[in-house]
Amino acid sequence: MNLFAKKSLAQLDQESERNPLRRSLGRVQLIALGVGSIIGTGIFVMTGTAASQNAGPALVLSMILTTIGCAFSGLCYAEFASMVPIAGSAYTYAYATIGELIAWIIGWDLILEYALSVSTVAVGWSGYFVSFTHDVGINLPLALTMPLGKVVTDQSGATVVGIFNLPAVCIVIFVSALLISGIRQSANANTVLVFIKAIVLVVFVVAGASYVQRANLTPFIPPNTGEFGHFGPSGILRGAGVMFFAYIGFDAVTTAAQESKNPQRDMPWGILGSLAICTVLYIAVAIVLTGIVHYSKLNVADPLAVGIDATGLRWLSPVIKVSALFGLFSTMLVQLLGQTRIFFSMARDGLLPRVFGRVHSRYQTPHVSTLVTGTVCAFVAGLTPIEVLGQLVSIGTLLAFVLVCIGIVILRKTAPNNRRPFRTPWVPLVPILGAVICLAQMVGLPGETWVRLVIWLALGLAIYFLYGHSHAQAARVARRD
Ligand code: ALA
Repeated sequence: MNLFAKKSLAQLDQESERNPLRRSLGRVQLIALGVGSIIGTGIFVMTGTAASQNAGPALVLSMILTTIGCAFSGLCYAEFASMVPIAGSAYTYAYATIGELIAWIIGWDLILEYALSVSTVAVGWSGYFVSFTHDVGINLPLALTMPLGKVVTDQSGATVVGIFNLPAVCIVIFVSALLISGIRQSANANTVLVFIKAIVLVVFVVAGASYVQRANLTPFIPPNTGEFGHFGPSGILRGAGVMFFAYIGFDAVTTAAQESKNPQRDMPWGILGSLAICTVLYIAVAIVLTGIVHYSKLNVADPLAVGIDATGLRWLSPVIKVSALFGLFSTMLVQLLGQTRIFFSMARDGLLPRVFGRVHSRYQTPHVSTLVTGTVCAFVAGLTPIEVLGQLVSIGTLLAFVLVCIGIVILRKTAPNNRRPFRTPWVPLVPILGAVICLAQMVGLPGETWVRLVIWLALGLAIYFLYGHSHAQAARVARRD
């Protein structure tokens, strides 16, 4: 059994040349793809949860911690992406460096990041949608806007039990259909949507800045309640783990390597450029949000709109809601695109059934994997609460980042002479710090999230040993013939 079979860079180059996907993305579109993937439910919804439950006004410190971890991991991703310019992200990098088993574990783990974040963002989208429709006088039946089994009391005092989240399901189906119809249209639509959501965050900061009150920011670090993760220093750490979700996405740029015109030159730009833009926006939003409204009022589905309402600028609230709807839509677009491209790579390597790698003859998109992934994501989005989804996405992605950071150190030792159009600075310091900060954020997440991660990984290993390993071996033999 060869659990550590690797793919050589020469072989990856060959695959890159046999590319059946259309190369249409330039540098600006890659940065837009990154920003489109990053800005989403994290900043529009989870800022409220992290401020009200974990960090208070020190939310900004949580964000700075997350930013540092992401910047270090982003530098490692950029080196890999310039060296291995084909689709598949961390999965492909691990296959080229550490070997098949770890590659499978990462690929399986990335399902948590990509597919599950589509479901998470869809639930966040649904929250803003319900709030917006309520404002215009349309009230959807409450039971059809909540996950299965969630119990709330409605305005009349009656108890309502959630059946499923209908708006979340519908939006995932719509996104899947758009992606099947072609990458170029999707990328153009994405560029417009990204612009809208980045601008609305700038407007939020500029409009809200003069309403910041010192009283809302004091005490800056609320005292710990006696429970780990509820304010105080441990709250800042857990806040960082929760807010990590908001930063996920810069690595999605790498999944479009085979649709990029010049991946070796443009990938590092896409990754680091999108991360830099979002970091500046996020830190400004965190300061303004916790400054204009007391953090205890932010445990809601639409915290930015609640913040703006507190300033009295009521005209801005619907603008924020509508922009959030468009903005979260584009996040789903990129994350679902990323997932299908990872499946595409895994199917090509034999680790998943070949049907996941099938490309539509006219649209040149992997239509089958988009359809399957979209259907599962819609189902999960309809039934699961946002906190469960968000924390699972965060822990899964953090694990992938840790492995990518370690991979850079290993590869500098085992293959020092490989081409590296982009080099991570200060190796091994930067990758080690990246891995340590990501691990610390994982530690900050609740125990039940860890249990879910372990179950997910165990399931993945079972599939690998029952299916993936033998089929990957057969695919290797076929390639040699
Ligand atoms: N970073 C993305 C979001 O916040 C996943 O929605």
